[in-house]
Amino acid sequence: MRFALNIDHIATLRNARAATQPDPITVALIAEQAGVDGIVVHLREDRRHINERDVRLLREIITTKLDLEMAAVDEIIKIACDVGPELATIVPERRKELTTEGGVNVLDDISHLKETIIDLHNAEIEVSLFIEPDIEQINASAEIEADFIEIHTGVFSNAISEEEQYDELEKIRLATRHAKKLGLGVNAGHGLDYQNIKIFRELTDIDEVSIGHSVIARAAIVGIDRAVREMIRLIDYR
Ligand code: PXP
Repeated sequence: MRFALNIDHIATLRNARAATQPDPITVALIAEQAGVDGIVVHLREDRRHINERDVRLLREIITTKLDLEMAAVDEIIKIACDVGPELATIVPERRKELTTEGGVNVLDDISHLKETIIDLHNAEIEVSLFIEPDIEQINASAEIEADFIEIHTGVFSNAISEEEQYDELEKIRLATRHAKKLGLGVNAGHGLDYQNIKIFRELTDIDEVSIGHSVIARAAIVGIDRAVREMIRLIDYR
């Protein structure tokens, strides 16, 4: 299981004072040296954290893999095609949400998403769709030739009882198996932290986890290098 670090909240902190520090570029480089497999940023339409300068500089500087989270809207698709991340992860976007709430409904928007995937493929960018662990959503993702799905782990992460957590883990396990049979790569993320990753890592078929808030929050206390290494140790516990 690979680990990609989402650094949006470094930019949140920077933007809180309209300042230049902390710079997500510096953090990405330290995270790479600490062993992450990729850097994830979400270029939102409202630019509340990451901005275009960040995406362009990251593209030039990082040596692992850039995963650009984005809504399937013309302005951002154009930027993505120009910048050329290795992966574009399509997420739904609502201005008022605190963070991405729920997955994309592929069935509801299938022709537009299909066109988006074609545009990104033409720019040699692989595409991942952020979806719920739902068989119909997975089938639709394969049908429109997504390369990956990213399974939304919010229900798992927010589960209060262990029973609820294991029920959701099982659902994600079955969804992963189904997606792999259809030839899709499988990433996962949302709300994963230093506690629940100890259970989530049982899903060894998942290609990559995308983790942001918990690691950036820990980095505020122990520094980015140590926060990343601690998470890697938990993911690679075997
Ligand atoms: N994956 C996707 C698609 C997301 O939108 C987010 C949140 O930006 C994450 C993963 C990471 O979630 P968290 O910050 O809760 O670790």
